[in-house]
Amino acid sequence: MAQPTCWIVYNGNLPQKKFMDFAEWTARAAEKKGITPSIIKNNELLVSFTNGKSSISGRYENSSPDFVIFGDKDVFLAKQLEKLGIPVYNSADSIEICDNKSRMYQTLADHGIPFPKTIIAPKVFGDLHDYSHYPAIVKEIGFPMVIKEAFGSFGMQVHLAENEQRLLELMRTLKNTEYVFQEMVGSSYGRDVRINIVDGKAVACMLRRSESDFRANVSFGGKTEPYTPTEEQVQLAAACAEVTGTAFAGVDLLFGPDGSPLVCEINSNAHIRSIYECTGIDVALPMMDFILDDLKRRGSVHE
Ligand SMILES: Nc1ncnc2c1ncn2[C@@H]1O[C@H](COP(=O)(O)OP(=O)(O)O)[C@@H](O)[C@H]1O
Ligand SMILES: [Mg+2]
Repeated sequence: MAQPTCWIVYNGNLPQKKFMDFAEWTARAAEKKGITPSIIKNNELLVSFTNGKSSISGRYENSSPDFVIFGDKDVFLAKQLEKLGIPVYNSADSIEICDNKSRMYQTLADHGIPFPKTIIAPKVFGDLHDYSHYPAIVKEIGFPMVIKEAFGSFGMQVHLAENEQRLLELMRTLKNTEYVFQEMVGSSYGRDVRINIVDGKAVACMLRRSESDFRANVSFGGKTEPYTPTEEQVQLAAACAEVTGTAFAGVDLLFGPDGSPLVCEINSNAHIRSIYECTGIDVALPMMDFILDDLKRRGSVHE
């Protein structure tokens, strides 16, 4: 039996090295597991429709791998690959749910999963003129308030409104950007827990703590340390992966006021270098094991 082949897709238009790093890291894990990887940019795979028929055109139009590891959020491309019968990890639907935080919170609420009190900002076209929802939001959530853009990572699109003036300023600036208003969990200020789930199991975990910011992200001064999660944290993180349909997930949990965990967010495209540097666990290896098993279950790869 020939070695299975995979494409590792990353975004060709993101300048940060960490995306390429994820692709190279995953490629090394694939090779260790006897898989032949090719690293490909999303803009080398064009989602095309001709005479009502879909295809992938461009450089790779005549080839197709046994599976794809999707290190990007180009969900139309992920969907198209699936439509062509290629298994994609994570699935296009799960990436779509996690990519948009409003969508993610709505999905968590469908399953009764606990997260901080949240209100989705009403849709705005162009500038914000009608502030009539503002008093109800202040009454419901209060200050300090977390404002989270629907699309964002590394804490960069997460803001803190300490008072009315800052909140109004943020609302004016964000105007038609999709975002949510969220209760600030003071008991978790500058602290969160990252649990990496693979196939429903917690495979690595770290505590992140920032001395200089309410955001515990490494990009905001978060220092990491290995952490043994409680059974409750593990169960909650696994439930998050299940309801979002993510085979692999980096789940961020906050410490609630009564000590019980609250979901902060679920990353379908979690970066795996910092958890490796903190814990010595290479999450990409169990990811590959899961994929190979899953392909066997699907009958795509034979022993
Ligand atoms: N409601 C909240 N209360 C307290 N801290 C929060 C809250 N939401 C987010 N944070 C902090 O901000 C960080 C970034 O938020 P997160 O939703 O994970 O966005 P990102 O996708 O940018 O990582 C979290 O890791 C956490 O430390
Ligand atoms: Mg996060």
